[in-house]
Amino acid sequence: MSEPSSTSTTVAADLLVVANRLPVDRVVNDDGSTEWRASPGGLVSALAPVMRKNEGAWIGWPGDTGTEVEPFENDGIALVPVALSDQEYAEFYEGFSNDTLWPLYHDLVAKPSFRREWWDSYVTVNQRFADAAAANAAEGATVWVQDYQLQLVPQMLRELRPDLRIGFYLHIPFPPAELFSQLPWRRQVLEGLLGADLVGFQLSGAAQNFVRLVRQRVGHKTHRDTVYLPDGRVVRARAFPISIDTEGFEELARSEPVETRAAEIRRELGNPSTVFLGIDRLDYTKGIYARLRAFSELIADGELDVEDAVFVQVATPSRERVDQYRRLRDDIDRLVGRINGDLGRIGRPAISYLHSSFPREEMAALYRAADVMVVTPFRDGMNLVAKEYVACRFHEDGALVLSEFAGAADELRQAYLVNPYDINGMKATMMQAHRAEPKELSKRMRAMRKTVTENDVAHWASTFLDSLALDRDAHDKQTRPPHES
Ligand code: F6P
Repeated sequence: MSEPSSTSTTVAADLLVVANRLPVDRVVNDDGSTEWRASPGGLVSALAPVMRKNEGAWIGWPGDTGTEVEPFENDGIALVPVALSDQEYAEFYEGFSNDTLWPLYHDLVAKPSFRREWWDSYVTVNQRFADAAAANAAEGATVWVQDYQLQLVPQMLRELRPDLRIGFYLHIPFPPAELFSQLPWRRQVLEGLLGADLVGFQLSGAAQNFVRLVRQRVGHKTHRDTVYLPDGRVVRARAFPISIDTEGFEELARSEPVETRAAEIRRELGNPSTVFLGIDRLDYTKGIYARLRAFSELIADGELDVEDAVFVQVATPSRERVDQYRRLRDDIDRLVGRINGDLGRIGRPAISYLHSSFPREEMAALYRAADVMVVTPFRDGMNLVAKEYVACRFHEDGALVLSEFAGAADELRQAYLVNPYDINGMKATMMQAHRAEPKELSKRMRAMRKTVTENDVAHWASTFLDSLALDRDAHDKQTRPPHES
């Protein structure tokens, strides 16, 4: 992508997305030159058409530190960069977002750190995002704030601009009251979210957790999905399960280059009869260690043979300076080395491990090449990899082994569901998926494909935005709750 053209310093957008990352990342090359590269994720493809139609603006961090970049236009959308200093990167992004909230919201899979200076930085950076949104929104605009990094923005923004319609969407799980209550700043976070008119979650259980916490910790009246604020405003909390660009993935998977590449991948793996595949950000919530152990035990037990089964594990580098992530990388490196050392043969490693990120085309080729996709997080808001695999299996073949603790398991009921804490159970289910008859696989895959085709990311975005707009129309007619709950 070339250098963008600069626009005036503020825009007056009717629809604004406020997200931690811009849809493009600023990359500094070795020679010091800079370029913008599409940052991964389906959010922008879902929102791009509606953003273009509505004079949309996207407010986010450009992915590096220190540099102030003027707003610019990219692909018909105004992008408004919010700068982070090195210290804010360490305290707001790596610290409070990814070493406090991330583990706390994911069932305490790792121990969260509660550091007061990180919280201060979280407040400062949230205020900066709110200021940027306030400065760039037209009168009465709709602002859609995204994810756990920006939970204070709705309230901060409402204080600056009460004319705005504000939505918030949490992409990760929202924990039960028993866990959330550990957070020293629990009340401030709840009040931050209550600045929105509509708070969206992946699953209805998360929305219920939120409403219950608001009742318990803030003391507002609630009834079902609605919170009644003392000033007469109402806030709704509902589930909107996120999805992928299903058609785009299928089209890619059907393309000739991807078909050729998929065949090449299998050849390069030595034409095994079964390819197992895992693709994850290298994150301790994803259950990579347990899944590789399960696979290695199937080989050690003689259930599988390295001559005809291989596990391809792609682990995308992520948050590499955070301690827990650094340790995880070492643990996985050691485990893969040990498994291949103990069980591999010349030219036949049990696990083909790639610590790297790949473009969408290569991902589609991997999905096409894999017989059994193994997605086993201990906790995951949704898990889009599971949906991408399904979108790419247009021959209605292949098996999906899926953790019951991934949000996707709520919709993809025909997957081979597993409890990632139960290694023996996982081994048995992986074998069941591996041995399944083609007829059984196609019955399951057909049903899952129907789900991801009907519920794609465009459907997700329009359902959320329609609900936000509808609630605005209903707002004036709102009365007090029929009774307190
Ligand atoms: O889904 C959670 C999330 O933090 C997203 O907000 C983000 O796009 C993705 O994971 C990758 O994380 P990061 O932005 O920390 O690299």
